[in-house]
Amino acid sequence: MTAHLQLPPVAPGGLPLLGHSLSLVGGSSRLEFLQRLRSIGPMVQITVGPKPLMVVNDPDLIHELLTGRLTKHLDKGLLFAKLKLFGKDALPVAEGARHLQRRRLVQPSLHHKQVTGYIDSMVKTIEQTISPWRDGATLDLKTEMQLITQSVIMETLFSSHPPRDAAGKILRSVDTVFMAALQRALLPLRVLERLPTPGNRRLKAAGDVLRRTVEDIISAHRNQPDAFDDVVSLLLNLTDEKGAPLEDDDVLSEITGLLAAGSETTAVVMAWLFYELARNPDLENRMHSEIDSVLNGAPIAAEHIPRLAFTGRLVTETLRLYSPAWLVTRRTTSDVQLGGFELPAGTDLMFSPYTLHRDPDLYSDPQRFDPDRWLPERIQPPQNAFIPFGAGKRMCMGDRFAVTEAVSIAALVASRWRLRPAQGPVVRPIGAITTHPSWLRMVTEAREPTIADVPNL
Ligand code: HEM
Repeated sequence: MTAHLQLPPVAPGGLPLLGHSLSLVGGSSRLEFLQRLRSIGPMVQITVGPKPLMVVNDPDLIHELLTGRLTKHLDKGLLFAKLKLFGKDALPVAEGARHLQRRRLVQPSLHHKQVTGYIDSMVKTIEQTISPWRDGATLDLKTEMQLITQSVIMETLFSSHPPRDAAGKILRSVDTVFMAALQRALLPLRVLERLPTPGNRRLKAAGDVLRRTVEDIISAHRNQPDAFDDVVSLLLNLTDEKGAPLEDDDVLSEITGLLAAGSETTAVVMAWLFYELARNPDLENRMHSEIDSVLNGAPIAAEHIPRLAFTGRLVTETLRLYSPAWLVTRRTTSDVQLGGFELPAGTDLMFSPYTLHRDPDLYSDPQRFDPDRWLPERIQPPQNAFIPFGAGKRMCMGDRFAVTEAVSIAALVASRWRLRPAQGPVVRPIGAITTHPSWLRMVTEAREPTIADVPNL
């Protein structure tokens, strides 16, 4: 392809010094801003503070970026530069040989067969986490879902089961660390990062909580090396080419990275799924019939998951409409061409699965929550238009884990509870660490499963 322009067109509305930073400050308005940029063209230039940032809108260009010849000329860029946990590059931010080594190490633990083996322990952990729920209670649903997904990751990958109050503290600490990274990426004022502000003190305290939590996990594994067979043992047994073990901070960083990558993402998907079910009683009824008839009173087991087809489509549709990833970044490490544009080394790029999945050129009636759009007989979205887990060599490693877990949570919660929206403000999507609901309180209503014939779904 011949280069027709040096750089993509600049989006209107930039201010001197600040560029488009103000449009990116509000969690809700930044999503709307990015959505509007899609109509400008396949690639659009904005500025974040003094830095230009290329927003890639076209699904095929995004695909090229993630899977094509360009990948070896890219690193993870803006957001990830701020995410050195404990000063180390964990898997989601590592580059080159280190990335490959860690990916190969962790991959078998998240492999399809392995994930199927986790289902019993997932279900037990979900049951334990929701056991304090009482009929008529008002739940902060995002937090409840985060407690579930965090406990599931800690149980299955680290053999650790902190009590509810400690789990809440870990949750808030992960949130603090990742929100700081996001803010620093979107408003890159280095001087603010070093001042003893309340925010920076909170960040330090959050880092300390995570360090203590993970150190306890590591020492439990070191004290009884034969008692565990999980991701922590793999990391503790890993050696470099000279036979030296990983430094403790490397292990800390990897464990925290996995905890963060695998908890909030699935949690917000579940929060949105229950939000949509409460707004769509017909979908809720269909899900209840499916779950009741497939489980037929039995506890959830691996064989049930593939049979919960409608529940699976609800999860897929939630991943489309409320894609947790609203911002994925890359940076060129050498001069490259993309879509006919010439991008010099050091160019920051981003794309948004969230806005892509809501594009009316790619999806019919894109704002409508419609799980049936995924029925095989319906016209499917164009290739490359559905990327909740990214693609290529940095694609999410936990996609199967996440979907299995999501179906298990939906089935277990819905077999016991109906969740009704509590009175309160309008719920809006907020682009923060993930795309989370601005506010989501729901009231529990006990339900008895009915044993029905297999419904026509
Ligand atoms: C619905 C849930 C999830 C969503 C939407 C999601 C989304 C993503 C996305 C979009 C990426 C790619 C980022 C990029 O290209 O820069 C990613 C990477 C990653 N995810 Fe997930 N994720 C989810 C759940 C999980 C779970 C449950 C785990 C672990 C158990 C996990 C582990 C990872 C890891 C390790 C990476 C980095 C891969 C690499 O850089 O090679 N994710 N995730």
